[in-house]
Amino acid sequence: MKPKSIRIRNLPTHLLLIAVCLFTSSSASKIGENCGSDNKCDAGLSCQTCPANGNTRPRCSRTQPLSPTSKVKGLAFNRYSWLTTHNSYALAGARSATGSVIVAPMNQEDKVDEQLKNGVRGFMLDMYDFQNDIWLCHSFQSKCFNFTAFQPAINVLKDMRTFLDGNPSEIITIFIEDYVTAPQGLTKVLRDSGLSKYMFPVSRMPKNGEDWPTVDDMVQKNQRLVVFTSKSAKEASEGIAYQWTYVVENQYGDDGMKAGSCPSRAESPAMNTKSRSLVLVNYFHSAPNRSQACADNSAPLLDMMKTCHEAAGNRWANFIAVDYYQRSDGGGAPLAVDEANGHLTCGCDNIAYCKENAKSGTCDVPPISPPPPATETPSTGNQQTQNNNHTNNAYIGRTAKLMQSVVGILATTTFLAWL
Ligand SMILES: *[C@@H]1O[C@H](CO)[C@@H](O)[C@H](O)[C@H]1NC(C)=O
Ligand SMILES: *[C@@H]1O[C@H](CO)[C@@H](O)[C@H](O)[C@H]1NC(C)=O
Ligand SMILES: *[C@@H]1O[C@H](CO)[C@@H](O)[C@H](O)[C@H]1NC(C)=O
Repeated sequence: MKPKSIRIRNLPTHLLLIAVCLFTSSSASKIGENCGSDNKCDAGLSCQTCPANGNTRPRCSRTQPLSPTSKVKGLAFNRYSWLTTHNSYALAGARSATGSVIVAPMNQEDKVDEQLKNGVRGFMLDMYDFQNDIWLCHSFQSKCFNFTAFQPAINVLKDMRTFLDGNPSEIITIFIEDYVTAPQGLTKVLRDSGLSKYMFPVSRMPKNGEDWPTVDDMVQKNQRLVVFTSKSAKEASEGIAYQWTYVVENQYGDDGMKAGSCPSRAESPAMNTKSRSLVLVNYFHSAPNRSQACADNSAPLLDMMKTCHEAAGNRWANFIAVDYYQRSDGGGAPLAVDEANGHLTCGCDNIAYCKENAKSGTCDVPPISPPPPATETPSTGNQQTQNNNHTNNAYIGRTAKLMQSVVGILATTTFLAWL
Protein backbone atom coordinates (compact mmCIF):
# COMPACT_ATOMS: atom_id res chain seq x y z
CA MET A 1 0.00 0.00 0.00
CA LYS A 2 2.83 2.32 0.84
CA PRO A 3 4.19 2.93 -2.67
CA LYS A 4 0.66 3.59 -3.94
CA SER A 5 -0.08 6.19 -1.31
CA ILE A 6 3.16 7.94 -2.03
CA ARG A 7 2.45 8.03 -5.75
CA ILE A 8 -1.12 9.24 -5.30
CA ARG A 9 -0.04 11.85 -2.85
CA ASN A 10 1.99 13.34 -5.65
CA LEU A 11 -1.03 13.80 -7.91
CA PRO A 12 -2.57 17.26 -8.09
CA THR A 13 -5.28 17.73 -5.52
CA HIS A 14 -7.96 18.78 -7.96
CA LEU A 15 -7.51 15.54 -9.92
CA LEU A 16 -8.01 13.58 -6.76
CA LEU A 17 -11.17 15.45 -5.94
CA ILE A 18 -12.52 14.82 -9.42
CA ALA A 19 -11.74 11.14 -9.01
CA VAL A 20 -13.58 11.10 -5.71
CA CYS A 21 -16.60 12.80 -7.27
CA LEU A 22 -16.62 10.43 -10.25
CA PHE A 23 -16.54 7.52 -7.93
CA THR A 24 -19.22 8.64 -5.56
CA SER A 25 -21.61 10.00 -8.17
CA SER A 26 -21.40 7.08 -10.60
CA SER A 27 -24.74 5.62 -11.65
CA ALA A 28 -26.42 2.63 -10.06
CA SER A 29 -24.23 -0.42 -9.66
CA LYS A 30 -24.43 -3.89 -11.15
CA ILE A 31 -24.37 -7.30 -9.54
CA GLY A 32 -21.39 -7.86 -7.32
CA GLU A 33 -20.24 -4.28 -7.46
CA ASN A 34 -19.53 -2.19 -4.47
CA CYS A 35 -22.45 0.00 -3.56
CA GLY A 36 -21.33 1.39 -0.26
CA SER A 37 -20.85 4.95 -1.42
CA ASP A 38 -24.37 5.72 -2.57
CA ASN A 39 -26.29 2.56 -1.77
CA LYS A 40 -27.62 2.44 -5.30
CA CYS A 41 -27.94 -0.70 -7.36
CA ASP A 42 -29.68 -1.54 -10.62
CA ALA A 43 -33.27 -2.78 -10.57
CA GLY A 44 -33.59 -6.29 -9.20
CA LEU A 45 -30.62 -5.83 -6.90
CA SER A 46 -30.18 -4.53 -3.40
CA CYS A 47 -27.14 -3.13 -1.65
CA GLN A 48 -26.21 -5.42 1.22
CA THR A 49 -23.45 -7.03 3.22
CA CYS A 50 -23.26 -10.53 4.62
CA PRO A 51 -21.15 -10.43 7.77
CA ALA A 52 -22.27 -13.98 8.59
CA ASN A 53 -19.94 -15.33 5.92
CA GLY A 54 -17.36 -12.60 6.05
CA ASN A 55 -18.67 -10.40 3.27
CA THR A 56 -18.55 -7.02 4.86
CA ARG A 57 -18.24 -4.93 1.69
CA PRO A 58 -21.65 -3.58 0.71
CA ARG A 59 -22.40 -4.79 -2.79
CA CYS A 60 -25.25 -5.24 -5.16
CA SER A 61 -26.98 -8.56 -4.66
CA ARG A 62 -29.78 -10.26 -6.54
CA THR A 63 -33.35 -10.00 -5.31
CA GLN A 64 -35.07 -11.26 -8.48
CA PRO A 65 -34.65 -14.40 -10.55
CA LEU A 66 -34.99 -14.32 -14.32
CA SER A 67 -38.46 -15.28 -15.40
CA PRO A 68 -38.49 -19.09 -15.66
CA THR A 69 -40.31 -18.90 -18.99
CA SER A 70 -38.18 -16.13 -20.44
CA LYS A 71 -35.98 -18.34 -22.61
CA VAL A 72 -37.78 -21.57 -23.34
CA LYS A 73 -41.51 -21.12 -23.38
CA GLY A 74 -44.40 -23.51 -23.32
CA LEU A 75 -42.90 -26.43 -21.41
CA ALA A 76 -44.76 -28.51 -18.85
CA PHE A 77 -45.29 -26.74 -15.51
CA ASN A 78 -42.90 -29.21 -13.85
CA ARG A 79 -40.14 -28.20 -16.25
CA TYR A 80 -39.65 -24.88 -14.50
CA SER A 81 -38.36 -23.79 -11.12
CA TRP A 82 -40.12 -21.16 -9.04
CA LEU A 83 -38.74 -18.98 -6.27
CA THR A 84 -40.69 -19.79 -3.11
CA THR A 85 -40.88 -17.99 0.21
CA HIS A 86 -41.21 -19.90 3.46
CA ASN A 87 -43.86 -18.34 5.69
CA SER A 88 -44.33 -15.67 3.05
CA TYR A 89 -46.68 -13.68 5.28
CA ALA A 90 -44.46 -13.57 8.37
CA LEU A 91 -43.18 -10.07 7.80
CA ALA A 92 -40.36 -8.94 10.04
CA GLY A 93 -41.49 -6.13 12.29
CA ALA A 94 -45.18 -6.63 11.55
CA ARG A 95 -47.80 -5.97 14.14
CA SER A 96 -50.76 -8.33 14.39
CA ALA A 97 -53.91 -7.13 12.70
CA THR A 98 -55.52 -7.80 16.08
CA GLY A 99 -53.45 -4.91 17.40
CA SER A 100 -51.34 -7.22 19.49
CA VAL A 101 -47.59 -7.39 19.43
CA ILE A 102 -46.51 -10.53 17.58
CA VAL A 103 -44.44 -13.01 19.50
CA ALA A 104 -43.58 -15.45 16.74
CA PRO A 105 -40.69 -16.05 14.39
CA MET A 106 -40.62 -13.91 11.26
CA ASN A 107 -39.26 -15.11 7.95
CA GLN A 108 -39.45 -12.39 5.30
CA GLU A 109 -38.97 -8.68 5.04
CA ASP A 110 -41.35 -7.63 2.34
CA LYS A 111 -45.03 -8.20 1.76
CA VAL A 112 -46.48 -10.73 -0.61
CA ASP A 113 -47.35 -8.11 -3.23
CA GLU A 114 -43.71 -6.97 -3.21
CA GLN A 115 -42.54 -10.56 -3.35
CA LEU A 116 -44.69 -11.06 -6.43
CA LYS A 117 -43.05 -8.07 -8.07
CA ASN A 118 -39.64 -9.61 -7.35
CA GLY A 119 -40.62 -12.82 -9.10
CA VAL A 120 -41.58 -14.99 -6.13
CA ARG A 121 -44.14 -17.50 -7.43
CA GLY A 122 -44.41 -20.05 -4.62
CA PHE A 123 -45.88 -19.13 -1.23
CA MET A 124 -45.97 -21.14 1.96
CA LEU A 125 -48.86 -19.99 4.10
CA ASP A 126 -49.94 -21.25 7.54
CA MET A 127 -53.71 -21.00 7.81
CA TYR A 128 -55.75 -21.22 10.99
CA ASP A 129 -59.31 -20.77 12.13
CA PHE A 130 -59.33 -17.51 14.05
CA GLN A 131 -61.91 -14.91 14.93
CA ASN A 132 -64.57 -16.63 12.79
CA ASP A 133 -62.33 -16.31 9.80
CA ILE A 134 -59.13 -17.76 8.40
CA TRP A 135 -55.90 -16.11 9.43
CA LEU A 136 -52.25 -16.39 8.64
CA CYS A 137 -50.62 -17.24 11.94
CA HIS A 138 -47.24 -18.51 12.97
CA SER A 139 -48.47 -20.50 15.88
CA PHE A 140 -48.38 -23.77 17.80
CA GLN A 141 -50.73 -26.48 19.08
CA SER A 142 -52.82 -25.99 15.94
CA LYS A 143 -54.27 -22.86 17.45
CA CYS A 144 -53.88 -19.21 16.62
CA PHE A 145 -53.55 -16.49 19.27
CA ASN A 146 -53.56 -12.73 19.01
CA PHE A 147 -49.82 -12.72 19.53
CA THR A 148 -49.20 -15.29 16.76
CA ALA A 149 -51.79 -13.92 14.32
CA PHE A 150 -50.43 -11.87 11.45
CA GLN A 151 -53.51 -11.03 9.42
CA PRO A 152 -56.64 -12.46 7.80
CA ALA A 153 -55.62 -14.74 4.93
CA ILE A 154 -57.95 -12.94 2.56
CA ASN A 155 -55.68 -9.88 2.50
CA VAL A 156 -52.78 -11.80 1.05
CA LEU A 157 -55.00 -13.87 -1.23
CA LYS A 158 -56.46 -10.66 -2.62
CA ASP A 159 -52.94 -9.44 -3.41
CA MET A 160 -52.45 -12.61 -5.39
CA ARG A 161 -55.73 -12.16 -7.16
CA THR A 162 -54.76 -8.60 -8.14
CA PHE A 163 -51.47 -9.91 -9.45
CA LEU A 164 -53.07 -12.69 -11.49
CA ASP A 165 -55.63 -10.22 -12.87
CA GLY A 166 -52.90 -7.85 -13.96
CA ASN A 167 -50.41 -10.44 -15.24
CA PRO A 168 -52.35 -12.83 -17.42
CA SER A 169 -49.49 -15.19 -18.17
CA GLU A 170 -48.19 -15.65 -14.63
CA ILE A 171 -48.73 -18.73 -12.48
CA ILE A 172 -48.70 -18.86 -8.68
CA THR A 173 -48.43 -21.85 -6.35
CA ILE A 174 -49.60 -21.85 -2.73
CA PHE A 175 -48.57 -24.45 -0.17
CA ILE A 176 -50.98 -24.31 2.74
CA GLU A 177 -49.88 -25.57 6.12
CA ASP A 178 -53.45 -26.25 6.95
CA TYR A 179 -54.88 -26.00 10.46
CA VAL A 180 -58.31 -24.97 9.25
CA THR A 181 -61.13 -27.16 10.52
CA ALA A 182 -64.10 -24.98 9.57
CA PRO A 183 -66.07 -26.91 6.96
CA GLN A 184 -65.33 -25.54 3.49
CA GLY A 185 -63.18 -22.90 5.19
CA LEU A 186 -60.46 -22.85 2.54
CA THR A 187 -62.99 -22.96 -0.26
CA LYS A 188 -64.76 -19.97 1.19
CA VAL A 189 -61.68 -17.81 1.67
CA LEU A 190 -60.44 -18.67 -1.83
CA ARG A 191 -63.84 -17.74 -3.22
CA ASP A 192 -64.12 -14.53 -1.21
CA SER A 193 -60.68 -13.42 -2.39
CA GLY A 194 -61.68 -13.92 -6.01
CA LEU A 195 -59.08 -16.63 -6.53
CA SER A 196 -61.38 -19.61 -7.12
CA LYS A 197 -61.74 -18.88 -10.80
CA TYR A 198 -57.99 -19.25 -11.29
CA MET A 199 -57.62 -22.57 -9.52
CA PHE A 200 -55.98 -25.36 -11.40
CA PRO A 201 -58.31 -28.34 -10.92
CA VAL A 202 -57.11 -31.38 -9.00
CA SER A 203 -58.55 -33.56 -11.77
CA ARG A 204 -55.89 -32.25 -14.15
CA MET A 205 -52.95 -32.81 -11.80
CA PRO A 206 -50.80 -35.77 -12.84
CA LYS A 207 -50.98 -38.56 -10.28
CA ASN A 208 -48.43 -40.95 -11.59
CA GLY A 209 -45.35 -38.97 -12.42
CA GLU A 210 -46.50 -37.70 -15.80
CA ASP A 211 -45.69 -34.22 -16.97
CA TRP A 212 -48.04 -31.48 -15.90
CA PRO A 213 -49.95 -29.56 -18.56
CA THR A 214 -47.82 -26.91 -20.19
CA VAL A 215 -47.67 -23.42 -18.79
CA ASP A 216 -49.22 -22.23 -22.06
CA ASP A 217 -52.16 -24.52 -21.52
CA MET A 218 -52.55 -23.32 -17.93
CA VAL A 219 -52.45 -19.73 -19.12
CA GLN A 220 -54.85 -20.30 -21.97
CA LYS A 221 -57.38 -22.02 -19.69
CA ASN A 222 -56.70 -19.37 -17.05
CA GLN A 223 -55.93 -22.10 -14.51
CA ARG A 224 -53.00 -20.19 -13.08
CA LEU A 225 -53.27 -20.88 -9.39
CA VAL A 226 -51.97 -24.18 -8.05
CA VAL A 227 -53.01 -24.82 -4.44
CA PHE A 228 -51.80 -27.60 -2.17
CA THR A 229 -52.95 -28.39 1.34
CA SER A 230 -51.22 -30.41 4.02
CA LYS A 231 -54.52 -32.05 4.99
CA SER A 232 -55.24 -35.10 2.89
CA ALA A 233 -58.98 -35.12 3.61
CA LYS A 234 -59.48 -31.78 1.89
CA GLU A 235 -58.88 -33.26 -1.51
CA ALA A 236 -62.12 -35.22 -1.23
CA SER A 237 -64.06 -32.66 0.79
CA GLU A 238 -63.03 -29.45 -0.97
CA GLY A 239 -61.18 -30.46 -4.11
CA ILE A 240 -57.91 -29.00 -2.84
CA ALA A 241 -54.90 -31.09 -3.72
CA TYR A 242 -53.12 -32.98 -0.98
CA GLN A 243 -49.57 -31.79 -1.41
CA TRP A 244 -47.62 -35.02 -1.10
CA THR A 245 -49.68 -36.84 -3.68
CA TYR A 246 -48.05 -34.52 -6.22
CA VAL A 247 -44.87 -33.23 -4.64
CA VAL A 248 -41.79 -34.68 -3.00
CA GLU A 249 -40.27 -32.38 -0.44
CA ASN A 250 -37.08 -32.51 1.57
CA GLN A 251 -36.78 -32.06 5.30
CA TYR A 252 -37.23 -28.46 6.40
CA GLY A 253 -35.42 -26.62 9.20
CA ASP A 254 -32.04 -27.44 10.71
CA ASP A 255 -32.34 -31.14 9.88
CA GLY A 256 -32.63 -30.24 6.22
CA MET A 257 -29.44 -28.20 6.21
CA LYS A 258 -26.89 -30.96 6.66
CA ALA A 259 -24.50 -30.66 3.77
CA GLY A 260 -24.53 -33.61 1.41
CA SER A 261 -27.84 -35.10 2.46
CA CYS A 262 -31.38 -34.43 1.32
CA PRO A 263 -33.85 -36.61 3.19
CA SER A 264 -37.57 -36.22 2.58
CA ARG A 265 -39.76 -34.68 5.23
CA ALA A 266 -41.95 -37.10 7.15
CA GLU A 267 -45.12 -36.42 5.18
CA SER A 268 -43.44 -36.73 1.80
CA PRO A 269 -42.63 -39.88 -0.11
CA ALA A 270 -38.91 -40.45 -0.61
CA MET A 271 -37.27 -37.76 -2.73
CA ASN A 272 -36.69 -40.16 -5.61
CA THR A 273 -40.35 -41.14 -5.86
CA LYS A 274 -41.01 -40.61 -9.53
CA SER A 275 -44.76 -40.90 -9.24
CA ARG A 276 -44.64 -37.37 -7.87
CA SER A 277 -43.86 -34.94 -10.66
CA LEU A 278 -42.85 -31.93 -8.59
CA VAL A 279 -39.81 -31.46 -6.36
CA LEU A 280 -39.76 -28.94 -3.52
CA VAL A 281 -36.48 -28.03 -1.83
CA ASN A 282 -36.54 -26.24 1.52
CA TYR A 283 -33.43 -24.55 2.83
CA PHE A 284 -33.86 -22.54 5.99
CA HIS A 285 -33.15 -22.87 9.69
CA SER A 286 -35.73 -24.00 12.21
CA ALA A 287 -35.48 -20.60 13.88
CA PRO A 288 -35.34 -17.92 11.21
CA ASN A 289 -32.34 -15.66 11.58
CA ARG A 290 -32.08 -12.63 9.37
CA SER A 291 -28.33 -12.21 9.82
CA GLN A 292 -27.63 -15.82 9.00
CA ALA A 293 -30.00 -16.05 6.02
CA CYS A 294 -27.61 -14.29 3.62
CA ALA A 295 -25.01 -16.97 4.24
CA ASP A 296 -27.55 -19.81 4.01
CA ASN A 297 -28.96 -18.44 0.77
CA SER A 298 -25.56 -18.31 -0.89
CA ALA A 299 -23.16 -21.17 -1.69
CA PRO A 300 -24.76 -23.63 0.77
CA LEU A 301 -28.14 -23.25 -0.93
CA LEU A 302 -26.61 -23.95 -4.35
CA ASP A 303 -24.91 -27.02 -2.90
CA MET A 304 -28.11 -28.28 -1.35
CA MET A 305 -29.95 -27.78 -4.59
CA LYS A 306 -27.41 -30.08 -6.25
CA THR A 307 -27.54 -32.59 -3.41
CA CYS A 308 -31.32 -32.69 -3.66
CA HIS A 309 -31.08 -33.04 -7.44
CA GLU A 310 -29.24 -36.32 -6.87
CA ALA A 311 -31.56 -37.41 -4.08
CA ALA A 312 -34.59 -36.73 -6.24
CA GLY A 313 -33.35 -39.05 -8.96
CA ASN A 314 -31.69 -36.35 -11.04
CA ARG A 315 -34.57 -33.97 -10.86
CA TRP A 316 -34.00 -30.29 -10.26
CA ALA A 317 -36.11 -28.44 -7.73
CA ASN A 318 -39.34 -26.98 -9.06
CA PHE A 319 -39.71 -24.91 -5.91
CA ILE A 320 -36.84 -23.45 -3.91
CA ALA A 321 -38.08 -22.26 -0.54
CA VAL A 322 -36.08 -19.97 1.72
CA ASP A 323 -36.37 -17.45 4.52
CA TYR A 324 -35.42 -13.83 3.81
CA TYR A 325 -35.26 -14.56 0.11
CA GLN A 326 -33.63 -11.21 -0.70
CA ARG A 327 -30.64 -11.90 1.51
CA SER A 328 -27.43 -13.34 0.10
CA ASP A 329 -23.81 -12.52 -0.58
CA GLY A 330 -24.52 -11.88 -4.24
CA GLY A 331 -26.65 -14.33 -6.25
CA GLY A 332 -28.70 -15.95 -3.53
CA ALA A 333 -31.98 -17.77 -4.01
CA PRO A 334 -32.59 -15.96 -7.34
CA LEU A 335 -29.36 -17.46 -8.67
CA ALA A 336 -30.37 -20.91 -7.40
CA VAL A 337 -33.65 -20.58 -9.28
CA ASP A 338 -31.82 -19.39 -12.41
CA GLU A 339 -29.51 -22.39 -12.24
CA ALA A 340 -32.40 -24.81 -11.78
CA ASN A 341 -34.20 -23.21 -14.71
CA GLY A 342 -31.08 -23.46 -16.85
CA HIS A 343 -30.93 -27.20 -16.25
CA LEU A 344 -34.67 -27.70 -16.51
CA THR A 345 -35.46 -25.65 -19.57
CA CYS A 346 -32.38 -25.75 -21.81
CA GLY A 347 -29.74 -28.04 -20.37
CA CYS A 348 -27.41 -25.19 -19.44
CA ASP A 349 -26.00 -24.37 -16.01
CA ASN A 350 -27.99 -21.17 -15.79
CA ILE A 351 -31.07 -19.87 -17.57
CA ALA A 352 -29.01 -16.82 -18.47
CA TYR A 353 -27.00 -19.08 -20.79
CA CYS A 354 -30.06 -20.51 -22.58
CA LYS A 355 -30.49 -19.46 -26.17
CA GLU A 356 -34.04 -18.66 -26.96
CA ASN A 357 -35.81 -21.51 -28.73
CA ALA A 358 -32.54 -23.34 -29.42
CA LYS A 359 -31.88 -27.03 -29.10
CA SER A 360 -31.39 -28.19 -25.50
CA GLY A 361 -27.77 -27.98 -24.48
CA THR A 362 -27.00 -25.05 -26.76
CA CYS A 363 -25.58 -22.66 -24.22
CA ASP A 364 -24.49 -19.14 -24.72
CA VAL A 365 -22.07 -18.61 -21.87
CA PRO A 366 -21.23 -14.94 -21.90
CA PRO A 367 -17.60 -13.96 -22.56
CA ILE A 368 -15.34 -13.52 -19.57
CA SER A 369 -15.93 -10.09 -18.19
CA PRO A 370 -13.23 -7.42 -18.37
CA PRO A 371 -11.00 -7.22 -15.34
CA PRO A 372 -12.22 -5.02 -12.51
CA PRO A 373 -10.97 -1.46 -12.49
CA ALA A 374 -7.34 -1.09 -11.62
CA THR A 375 -6.90 0.45 -8.21
CA GLU A 376 -4.24 2.77 -9.53
CA THR A 377 -6.63 4.67 -11.80
CA PRO A 378 -9.88 5.29 -9.97
CA SER A 379 -11.23 7.34 -12.88
CA THR A 380 -11.72 4.12 -14.88
CA GLY A 381 -14.33 3.15 -12.35
CA ASN A 382 -16.95 3.30 -15.08
CA GLN A 383 -15.55 0.16 -16.62
CA GLN A 384 -16.85 -1.82 -13.74
CA THR A 385 -20.34 -1.57 -15.19
CA GLN A 386 -19.32 -3.95 -17.98
CA ASN A 387 -19.17 -6.94 -15.69
CA ASN A 388 -21.55 -9.55 -17.01
CA ASN A 389 -20.52 -12.72 -15.25
CA HIS A 390 -23.52 -12.88 -12.96
CA THR A 391 -22.50 -16.11 -11.30
CA ASN A 392 -18.84 -15.56 -10.76
CA ASN A 393 -18.31 -15.60 -7.03
CA ALA A 394 -14.55 -15.55 -7.42
CA TYR A 395 -14.94 -12.39 -9.46
CA ILE A 396 -17.25 -10.89 -6.88
CA GLY A 397 -14.72 -11.62 -4.18
CA ARG A 398 -11.99 -10.08 -6.23
CA THR A 399 -14.06 -7.02 -7.05
CA ALA A 400 -14.89 -6.57 -3.41
CA LYS A 401 -11.23 -6.70 -2.48
CA LEU A 402 -10.26 -4.31 -5.24
CA MET A 403 -13.05 -1.92 -4.39
CA GLN A 404 -11.89 -2.04 -0.82
CA SER A 405 -8.46 -0.87 -1.97
CA VAL A 406 -10.02 1.82 -4.17
CA VAL A 407 -12.07 3.13 -1.30
CA GLY A 408 -9.07 2.95 0.99
CA ILE A 409 -6.94 4.91 -1.41
CA LEU A 410 -9.64 7.45 -2.05
CA ALA A 411 -10.17 7.91 1.64
CA THR A 412 -6.47 8.42 2.18
CA THR A 413 -6.16 10.87 -0.68
CA THR A 414 -9.24 12.77 0.33
CA PHE A 415 -7.83 13.07 3.78
CA LEU A 416 -4.52 14.26 2.41
CA ALA A 417 -6.24 16.68 0.08
CA TRP A 418 -8.04 18.05 3.09
CA LEU A 419 -4.70 18.79 4.70
C1 LIG B 1 -57.46 -10.28 20.62
O1 LIG B 1 -57.66 -9.20 19.71
C2 LIG B 1 -59.01 -8.81 19.60
C3 LIG B 1 -59.06 -7.72 18.56
O2 LIG B 1 -58.87 -8.27 17.28
C4 LIG B 1 -59.54 -8.33 20.95
O3 LIG B 1 -60.90 -7.99 20.80
C5 LIG B 1 -59.36 -9.41 21.96
O4 LIG B 1 -59.72 -8.93 23.23
C6 LIG B 1 -57.92 -9.88 21.99
N1 LIG B 1 -57.81 -11.03 22.88
C7 LIG B 1 -56.93 -11.06 23.86
C8 LIG B 1 -56.91 -12.33 24.65
O5 LIG B 1 -56.16 -10.16 24.08
C1 LIG C 1 -28.07 -15.46 13.94
O1 LIG C 1 -27.00 -15.55 13.02
C2 LIG C 1 -25.87 -14.81 13.39
C3 LIG C 1 -24.91 -14.87 12.24
O2 LIG C 1 -24.61 -16.19 11.89
C4 LIG C 1 -25.30 -15.39 14.68
O3 LIG C 1 -24.18 -14.66 15.07
C5 LIG C 1 -26.38 -15.32 15.75
O4 LIG C 1 -25.91 -15.94 16.91
C6 LIG C 1 -27.64 -16.00 15.27
N1 LIG C 1 -28.69 -15.75 16.25
C7 LIG C 1 -29.35 -16.72 16.82
C8 LIG C 1 -30.41 -16.31 17.77
O5 LIG C 1 -29.12 -17.90 16.58
C1 LIG D 1 -18.01 -17.04 -14.54
O1 LIG D 1 -17.37 -17.39 -13.35
C2 LIG D 1 -17.28 -18.78 -13.12
C3 LIG D 1 -16.68 -19.01 -11.73
O2 LIG D 1 -15.39 -18.44 -11.63
C4 LIG D 1 -16.45 -19.42 -14.22
O3 LIG D 1 -16.36 -20.81 -14.01
C5 LIG D 1 -17.10 -19.15 -15.54
O4 LIG D 1 -16.31 -19.67 -16.58
C6 LIG D 1 -17.28 -17.66 -15.73
N1 LIG D 1 -18.04 -17.42 -16.91
C7 LIG D 1 -17.78 -16.41 -17.66
C8 LIG D 1 -18.62 -16.27 -18.83
O5 LIG D 1 -16.90 -15.62 -17.42
